[in-house]
Amino acid sequence: MNISTQTGTQDSTQPTTTAVVTGATSGIGREVARQLADLGWRVIAIGRDQEALDELAASSERITPRRADLVTDDLDGLVPEQVDALVHAAGISPSTSVEDTSEEDWERVLALNVTAGAALARRALPALRSARGTIVFVNSGAGTAARPRNTPYAASKHALRALANGLRVEEEENGVRVSTVYPGPTDTPMFGGDVDRAALIRPESVAKAVVMAITASDDVQLTDIHVRPRRELSW
Ligand SMILES: NC(=O)c1ccc[n+]([C@@H]2O[C@H](COP(=O)([O-])OP(=O)(O)OC[C@H]3O[C@@H](n4cnc5c(N)ncnc54)[C@H](OP(=O)(O)O)[C@@H]3O)[C@@H](O)[C@H]2O)c1
Repeated sequence: MNISTQTGTQDSTQPTTTAVVTGATSGIGREVARQLADLGWRVIAIGRDQEALDELAASSERITPRRADLVTDDLDGLVPEQVDALVHAAGISPSTSVEDTSEEDWERVLALNVTAGAALARRALPALRSARGTIVFVNSGAGTAARPRNTPYAASKHALRALANGLRVEEEENGVRVSTVYPGPTDTPMFGGDVDRAALIRPESVAKAVVMAITASDDVQLTDIHVRPRRELSW
């Protein structure tokens, strides 16, 4: 990673850095894509919603939209040859108890929230090693504590935390760093809690934490970043 990306906007004499961002059609992932593009990064923006992808791509020539269902589509070809950062923000959050969750629902939440992140990381590792790049997994408070009627989601986020922690030590010698960002309740379509939405975290604030992990000084990695609302909520 070049020096200018560690501190902010790229200058024209530096090679372009590239990020792959999932969940880029909405909420936190979309803000990550926008902020990285504003900093001069080339962004491969992944999601299923074609209209949202078109809108995002229209906002910056640095953003390349890639339509893909990360559960059902072949992931080959989504990761370019040069990658400096991978952000896995795509996720679903079924509000069901164990009693009410079918095997298919379990498979879906684990496939998107965990397996897709691992599969993309696997494909990006050679490029990330060359670039001394960064992987950021967008986790959740549910990655450290489970709540009723949220168990499949919490199980997937606990697994995602283990993925990040294991991958970090596996890749330590290879120069790839791995960060987890744990957002609290954030004002995106995913959050349906009965609360004054003004009290929620803004998605751009979570995105800033993701960008901070990616642009951290080369001698460190920001392993776990918890982003909580200024005034604590019960979620
Ligand atoms: N909002 C919160 O309160 C909160 C709190 C803690 C953690 N988080 C985490 O933050 C991350 C981002 O969530 P968000 O709040 O920004 O939610 P969001 O606005 O609902 O965005 C979810 C994203 O996931 C993508 N996605 C869903 N299914 C997909 C699939 N099968 N294939 C590819 N992409 C898929 C969606 O894109 P398409 O529909 O276009 O495919 C969308 O871009 C998630 O990992 C979530 O668990 C959120």
